[in-house]
Amino acid sequence: MKRSRRSEIPPFYAMEVLQRANERAAAGDDVLHLEIGEPSRRPPKRVIEAAEEALRNRPLGYTESAGLPELRARITQHYEDFYGLSVPFDRVLVTTGSSNAFLLTFLSAFDVGDRVALASPGYPGYRNGMAALGIRVVDLPAGPNSRFHPSVELIEACGEKLDGLIIASPSNPAGSMLLEDDFKTLVSYCISNDIRIISDEVYHGITYGERAVCARALTEEAVVVNSFSKYFAMTGWRLGWMIAPDDLTEPAERLAQNMFISPPGMTQYAALAAFECLDEYDAEVHRYAENRAILLEELPKAGIERFAPADGAFYLYADVSELTDDSSVFCEAMLAETGVAAAPGIDFDPKGGKSYVRFSFAGSTEDIGEAARRIVAWRRKRS
Ligand SMILES: Cc1ncc(COP(=O)(O)O)c(C=O)c1O
Repeated sequence: MKRSRRSEIPPFYAMEVLQRANERAAAGDDVLHLEIGEPSRRPPKRVIEAAEEALRNRPLGYTESAGLPELRARITQHYEDFYGLSVPFDRVLVTTGSSNAFLLTFLSAFDVGDRVALASPGYPGYRNGMAALGIRVVDLPAGPNSRFHPSVELIEACGEKLDGLIIASPSNPAGSMLLEDDFKTLVSYCISNDIRIISDEVYHGITYGERAVCARALTEEAVVVNSFSKYFAMTGWRLGWMIAPDDLTEPAERLAQNMFISPPGMTQYAALAAFECLDEYDAEVHRYAENRAILLEELPKAGIERFAPADGAFYLYADVSELTDDSSVFCEAMLAETGVAAAPGIDFDPKGGKSYVRFSFAGSTEDIGEAARRIVAWRRKRS
């Protein structure tokens, strides 16, 4: 029987590492999870209570496709409070995780065969998701010179006439942020060359110095995508949002109506409460900062000492090329011999990823300290 060619996309390897790590844990091994990029703590009590309240007292039928009006209004308020930006209510579309916002963006902005560029290394969901939709993915080989981000030089060097560009600052896997001036240069280049900008802002709020810049502050033409998964620690609750530019708002909404009907109702009520808990979320970011400091201090003792600038998110992207010529083999051995799971770079960069490993430090501080101790002992034993 017929099976689509579009579904022949690579797996998300970090999920496979997670599966192997879970199998080891089920067999009794003491496994530490530094492979998976999600907050380890539950959302604040008020969020859980709001979800319970919604379960008991709300009808929880479909909501409007673009989301509960009160949540869309609360999101516009968040832009005012956090960035000093005024965002029109009807540009905000609530989605089932940012993953669905990306799908709506790709479908509303691009046709089969259009070319969309992204930094490599980058989040695999963009590359693989766009490939399944028939969009031509143009990898920009971004390394330390461009802080692992796209740049005008990289775009010009790729030799393609682009229709779109994805920017993610802070980046997954690198954690690095685009400097404001570089961001402005990229935006004005894209506008003058008719390139649609998609700004993935799902790690906004999780930064360790400067605040991240919202693309909407630089242009109203950009599609801004955000999520309740990371800063708001609600991964499994599946809620995100997008701010659509004028010309994509209605197409994206029509696609959402037809493909998803509405985002999950109970979660939307809970998300309203999330905005009342920013102090708790910021405390969590302080904890990530402690975890980051532990890895930055300890991993060099294991010979892992070259990192992308970890300005935000909860990842250290480490160059391990002096220790291995294949980071997948390195990660396998590390899991087998120390119980520490980490994601090989191949997930994020099919070409250069063999030189890199991504360590997630979203876990408990105790686990991160113990993982660092085991990695240092392991490398010392091997050398
Ligand atoms: C950079 C980036 N964008 C988007 C997503 C998708 O997240 P969600 O669909 O949970 O909002 C992730 C998840 O890890 C991510 O790292």
